[in-house]
Amino acid sequence: MYYPEEIVEEVRQRNDIVDVISGYVGLSKRGSNYVCCCPFHGEKTPSFYVSRSKQIYKCFGCGEGGNVTTFVMKYENCTFPEALKLLAERAGVKLPEETYSEEAKRRESRRQQLLAVNKEAAKFYYYQLRGERGAKAREYLDKRALSNETRKSFGLGFAPVRGEELLLYLRQKGFTDDLIRDAGLAKADERRGTVTQFWNRVMFPIQDINHRVIGFGGRIMGTDDKGPKYLNSPETEIFDKSRNLYGMNLARSSRAGNMILCEGYMDVISMHQAGFAQAVASLGTAFTPGQAGLIKKYTKEVLLAYDSDGAGVKAALRAIGILRDAGMSGKIINMSPYKDPDEFMKNLGKEAFQERIEHAENSFLFEIRMLERDFDMNDPEEKTNFHNHIARRLCDFGEDVERENYIEAIADKYHIGFENLRKLVVNMAAKTGGYAVALVSRERPKSGMNSRGKNPAQENARKAQRLLLTWLTDYPQLYEKVKSYISPDDFTDELYRKVAQRMFADIEKGQFHPAGIIDLFDDEKEQSEAASLFTTQLPELETVQEKEKAFHDILVRVKKNSYEHYLERSGVEIAALSIAVEGKKALEELNKTHISFN
Ligand code: CTP
Ligand code: MN
Repeated sequence: MYYPEEIVEEVRQRNDIVDVISGYVGLSKRGSNYVCCCPFHGEKTPSFYVSRSKQIYKCFGCGEGGNVTTFVMKYENCTFPEALKLLAERAGVKLPEETYSEEAKRRESRRQQLLAVNKEAAKFYYYQLRGERGAKAREYLDKRALSNETRKSFGLGFAPVRGEELLLYLRQKGFTDDLIRDAGLAKADERRGTVTQFWNRVMFPIQDINHRVIGFGGRIMGTDDKGPKYLNSPETEIFDKSRNLYGMNLARSSRAGNMILCEGYMDVISMHQAGFAQAVASLGTAFTPGQAGLIKKYTKEVLLAYDSDGAGVKAALRAIGILRDAGMSGKIINMSPYKDPDEFMKNLGKEAFQERIEHAENSFLFEIRMLERDFDMNDPEEKTNFHNHIARRLCDFGEDVERENYIEAIADKYHIGFENLRKLVVNMAAKTGGYAVALVSRERPKSGMNSRGKNPAQENARKAQRLLLTWLTDYPQLYEKVKSYISPDDFTDELYRKVAQRMFADIEKGQFHPAGIIDLFDDEKEQSEAASLFTTQLPELETVQEKEKAFHDILVRVKKNSYEHYLERSGVEIAALSIAVEGKKALEELNKTHISFN
């Protein structure tokens, strides 16, 4: 959905940033700003600033910054349209209706129907668990020590023995058998007509990140009950098992800074009950790259809490590979002597688990430790073989420092001399065609950011440009006096040029709002960088003369840099020469001119 800029601006202006943020965290006043401990990174002393006059926030600890919409996006982990909707609702602004094409409308209404029937089924199961016939299921959940609150937050339910009851209920609500089947709640049976998928099972609704029920898992209660332990909904138009995770609807707003990937529904539930709201699990199938991508939207740090048995280790090794391919780091939580997080929690409790989190094992070291099991270390030949395997794996690190660090850690752990192991790795690389090229998935600087921070002259130029924008933010009335000397072209940094373009146009129109400029950027890093332009502290100068001098200096520095920049490029770019010539004139003019603050 695309919203026109005026609407976006209106929503923003009707939502004061200080009011909105104080709805999430406690702010206290400091000077003309408001401060608190940053909600986006752990800290004990406040470095998170909110400015009412500029409608901007900035953390001087982690660098995070932006306007009211980016704050909501970040805090709620939601998209721009979602944040806008939330803020519009808060301020009573009516957003324009979304306009769909016929085809999109049809698809959307079909999705809505499938979601509706699932939601109704979840409600039915929910009430069955609490009703007369739910006694056995309640007893089962008691035995598994799930509190009422937990049952409620996961929407647990019960599918009664007579499956038809669900059908009667749903039909009475107006849903057709076709839809019920398409939602995976029932199947067509030659003899008996429509039969339900689930009966006599404890029901675990599976929700998407927006808390909408997209499928179910159902567990048998007794050991003598027939059928598989867990039965899941089949994949449907709304239930893609490879792109959803159990518990993600809750985990995405946990502030843990990591996610814990478990194997089972019950693991997730008992983890949440113990306060680890960052736990998720895949949906009865192996972990997929699509699920890694989903997690990556929230965090890059994943802790694996897989079963400690052979199958669990195998699954963990696969998951590590998938996480690594997605550019994420995985660590392994040691569950021993217990089988899974659920058992662990019951026996040792949350403090012990927290400790295990802190001591989670690096995934590479875990892989090597598992590899070791295949070799008999008492046999010199097997031992050599093991070392060769290690060396081969170490060649996968494309970065020297990282590889060296791992060589050191492994050498230490397995009592191989550092130099020996290193030699082995070098020889292996020579044999097998060198080290891996630096990982593709490593974060690369975005275009426009790539010229940054390297060359000190460039860094100084950027600093001057940044300060000039800050001056003009604090004293927009100065723009009128300098506009004949300075234009957006003088900002050789791409991001600053974009900011200048918009800022100058806004000042001309008499409607400059720093917060609006943040929205020019989609990238979070760029948003934060833009926010810091408006929150940079100018040097504290006493007199007007001092200010005028400082401002003049900055102006000259920016202009001079711009002139040199275009002069340098005039050999390759025709337009650059005329900009340089103009620049030279303006610079001379500027040097003779006094710009007064009054
Ligand atoms: N699973 C499944 N079908 C089965 C067995 C397991 O789909 N027949 C899936 C379920 O998603 C289950 C996960 O695999 O949650 C892990 O299986 P398991 O460890 O056996 O289940 P737990 O969640 O530990 O369940 P419980 O503690 O109730 O035994
Ligand atoms: Mn279990």
